[in-house]
Amino acid sequence: MKKKVLVTRAMFDETLAYLAQHFDITSNQADEKYPPDELGARLQGMDAAVITSTDRVDEALLSRCPGLKAVCSASVGYNHVDVAACTRRGVMVTNTPGVLTDSVADYAVCLTLATCRRLTEAESMLRRGEWKGTHLKELLGMDLHHATVGIFGFGRIGQVIARRLTGFEPRILYCTRNRVARDIERDLKATFVGKDELLRQSDIVILILPYTRETHHFIGARELGLMKRKAVLINMARGGIVDDAALIEALKARRIWAAGLDVYENEPNLNPGLLAVANVVLSPHIASASEPTRQAMAMAAARNCVAALTTGNPPNLLNRDVLRQDA
Ligand code: DGY
Repeated sequence: MKKKVLVTRAMFDETLAYLAQHFDITSNQADEKYPPDELGARLQGMDAAVITSTDRVDEALLSRCPGLKAVCSASVGYNHVDVAACTRRGVMVTNTPGVLTDSVADYAVCLTLATCRRLTEAESMLRRGEWKGTHLKELLGMDLHHATVGIFGFGRIGQVIARRLTGFEPRILYCTRNRVARDIERDLKATFVGKDELLRQSDIVILILPYTRETHHFIGARELGLMKRKAVLINMARGGIVDDAALIEALKARRIWAAGLDVYENEPNLNPGLLAVANVVLSPHIASASEPTRQAMAMAAARNCVAALTTGNPPNLLNRDVLRQDA
């Protein structure tokens, strides 16, 4: 009998076809997010789930589906999955690193430029029919070229962002838990600094660090207070890393100059205060959303799922300890 797999959100045809070669699949092509109770009910009797970052997998959910062997997320971030709880219950957890690095780095440049040059504000003015012709002092922005750019999180994506920015001839500062090798620093012309120094010195601060208990509200009122008044904050990482309420206050008070956000606390219900401030560019968690990249993410999750249920050793396994439990 084929093993059973639940695909919790709409997927691409080729991903579903690939999974269907191996498993009996149930997929949510309607793409309405399952509330936790319904997700628990639908997972009963399933061997694995292919999920996205919108699905929360926690102890309560796992306790309802003892037959589950693998949770394969089509995302690089995995803060929506309680990995420790999965390990305790012998459930493999996988993510999709690598395949989205380039697209997310491209989008970091896009969001940074859009924010520095007030693109959405300018477009809204035009759409409202309020443009009266070019004025020398209208919609003045900030330059990215030759700016000091501080990057929090200097893993795979952070490093590619630094490389993309090279053409703008910036001064690059970075701060991360583990300093990278000196040859990488030299290659990217990046200088390792502490958190407060990065905040004080940067014209543009880009967040691309993982969301963990330690990085909850990593940027709050204190940190915003350290930034330059003319600085821009870009959050490409996860909601919760920034204290959105504190950010709204800082933007309103012009304590910082502007922000560009792709992620929010409590997605998709963003703090309404964000909609009321002009000096913020908002996008709905789309940094990885190019067609080829989203297809590659879905396929990587599907491959992980197939490997998990056939060889028991998927390529992007996050909790190796789960294998030791079997030994
Ligand atoms: C990721 O892969 O983590 C992106 O943020 C999409 O969820």
